[in-house]
Amino acid sequence: MKVLAVHSQKGGSGKTTLSAHLSVQAARLGHRVLIVDLDPQESVRKWWDRRVADDVTLSVNPPVAGIKAAAKEHGCDLVVIDTPPRSAATTLAALELANLVLIPCRPSIVDVDALDKVVELVARARAKSKHAVIINHAPAPRGVIQAEAGVVADSRSAIEAQFKLTVAPTVICDRAAFRHAMNDGRAVAEFEPAGKAAGEINSLWSYIQERI
Ligand SMILES: Nc1ncnc2c1ncn2[C@@H]1O[C@H](COP(=O)(O)OP(=O)(O)OP(=O)(O)O)[C@@H](O)[C@H]1O
Ligand SMILES: [Mg+2]
Repeated sequence: MKVLAVHSQKGGSGKTTLSAHLSVQAARLGHRVLIVDLDPQESVRKWWDRRVADDVTLSVNPPVAGIKAAAKEHGCDLVVIDTPPRSAATTLAALELANLVLIPCRPSIVDVDALDKVVELVARARAKSKHAVIINHAPAPRGVIQAEAGVVADSRSAIEAQFKLTVAPTVICDRAAFRHAMNDGRAVAEFEPAGKAAGEINSLWSYIQERI
């Protein structure tokens, strides 16, 4: 049983989007997935309610201590926990439970600066060796050689140098497909299977698999 927790203190960085997409990706690859919504906004629950496929099991605001037992009961081998953008006691407990903490972050200095609180939480959860910052909302690469935007490289360097955090090699770009897919409870692999967004999630999942 592996547990992924998705957390950042910044609102709108992509916690829910990543939680939903990684759950669907894992389910498509044969995992039995429990997606846990710990955010009182219940964005994952609302996405799940719109979802037609029943490949992912949902749990809303359960006691964190009981998550693994609940997953086992449902025959799940992977848990993905979406957290609120706050350091609630439940957030810390979720980070402690996780094999890998994923930290979505926009490639902007304001968002990078806000990682200081996450660093504290990750350290408190003694999860320092098992985290990955995921740069999300990146500008799409341009030109024939598809060069990575300068803000992405700058953010990656700043995150590594300032906070000594690991940044995943896969970058998730700002793509309309993510918003369109989630409109009706889907993921990009279902909305546009051959699209670039689906390729990015595929690549991110490969990286995560190697780390858990
Ligand atoms: N890569 C992306 N491309 C395009 N839109 C995105 C991407 N990632 C997230 N979004 C959009 O950005 C908004 C915020 O994303 P999301 O809700 O996943 O963030 P969050 O971190 O869960 O926010 P909160 O802190 O409020 O829970 C949403 O409208 C979502 O559809
Ligand atoms: Mg959210």
